Amino acid sequence: MRLAVVGGGSTYTPELVDGIARLREELPVTHLALVDPDAARLERVAGMARRMLAHAGHPARVLATSSLARGAEGADAVLFQLRVGGQAARDVDERLPLRCGCVGQETTGAGGLAKALRTVPVVLELASIVREVAPAAWIVDFTNPVGIVTRALLDAGHRAIGLCNVAIGFQRRFAAWLGADPARVALGHVGLNHLTWERSVTLDGAEVLPELLRAHGPELAASLGLRPGLLARLGAVPSYYLRYFYAHDEVVREQRAKPTRAAEVAEMEARLLELYADPAVVTKPDLLSRRGGAFYSEAAVALVASLLGDRGDTQVVNLRNAGTLPFLPDEAVIEVPAAVTASGAVPLPVPPVEPLYAGLIAHVSAYETLALEAALHGGADRVRDALLAHPLIGQDELAEELTGLLLEAGREHLPWA
Ligand code: G6P
Ligand code: MN
Repeated sequence: MRLAVVGGGSTYTPELVDGIARLREELPVTHLALVDPDAARLERVAGMARRMLAHAGHPARVLATSSLARGAEGADAVLFQLRVGGQAARDVDERLPLRCGCVGQETTGAGGLAKALRTVPVVLELASIVREVAPAAWIVDFTNPVGIVTRALLDAGHRAIGLCNVAIGFQRRFAAWLGADPARVALGHVGLNHLTWERSVTLDGAEVLPELLRAHGPELAASLGLRPGLLARLGAVPSYYLRYFYAHDEVVREQRAKPTRAAEVAEMEARLLELYADPAVVTKPDLLSRRGGAFYSEAAVALVASLLGDRGDTQVVNLRNAGTLPFLPDEAVIEVPAAVTASGAVPLPVPPVEPLYAGLIAHVSAYETLALEAALHGGADRVRDALLAHPLIGQDELAEELTGLLLEAGREHLPWA
């Protein structure tokens, strides 16, 4: 099994390698190609990956290359985990919206739009190279904003599926509370990437969400930064990204008083890269668990294993709506449980979505359509329309001001700006 990782020099790569090493029965990787334009970084990360695999007695060979054509040649699956502009660009995305009183976040609101604008063209170009050298390969996209990037890939005709670790994170947490193997726990997960709710949690098919909320509601709410009463009233568990909507102004106040997440992560990355350069370090450093990507490797391994092994099991992924949520266009990309086989992922039916969630989902989905238009075709007016359509922005003056700020700051990565 040949796996290629675009953005292989990411500090997250050892997370993935850890999963590949632990889950070798599930996914027998023989060749792992790490592709990255940053040679110095790639060398360190690849060295770390080789040591980890050797330490685990795993036979996979690691190829480190700056050439995607070389790395992806003959791949069965290609994971996209790149970050255009690195943490420096993320830092700008997180700071600019705050100037206008809006949440500063890498995937939600104006920051997410800025990231989409510079990322979509790059991803599409890379995907077309993949199509040339590995036409049958599946593209698994973790590159944020996953909903918009996946939609771009699918619209361009690629064999792509979008993936995020939010759902698997909940599944693992609920399983631990239930004292059960995660495979027995299924989520009634619905929405768009980074805009989801768990409306049901079943253990061996029996509903257990009300009892989980009774036993762990306050703890869960605290970890999501939400008030316990909200979870109790909804009878559902919003993802922590919903905090940017449900507690928007509180988040803005907090963000104004502390360094950005990008700055925090940049520091961690510098330390991680030092560890990766140390020949004595042969297992995933603990520091990596302070990043947001917990269980990312399990989710990736499971998805690729089901796509290549035609397993037909249920996994939460990003894919075309195709009528699943009747209030959205068929072409929209949604994040729901799906049956995953060698022919791809097919969304499972979703019970009718309450207006309380459907309204926000439809609103953000429309924004995503406009954001993609802006990313594909450029132009200040398209950017402004996307911002106007976003529920966290929505005002004309604000949209105009943010458009100016984003385009000026993003010029380096936006040829049309
Ligand atoms: C979660 C999200 C990812 C996101 C990450 C950020 O894992 O699902 O989409 O990239 O958090 O983590 P970081 O440590 O970079 O803030
Ligand atoms: Mn995610």
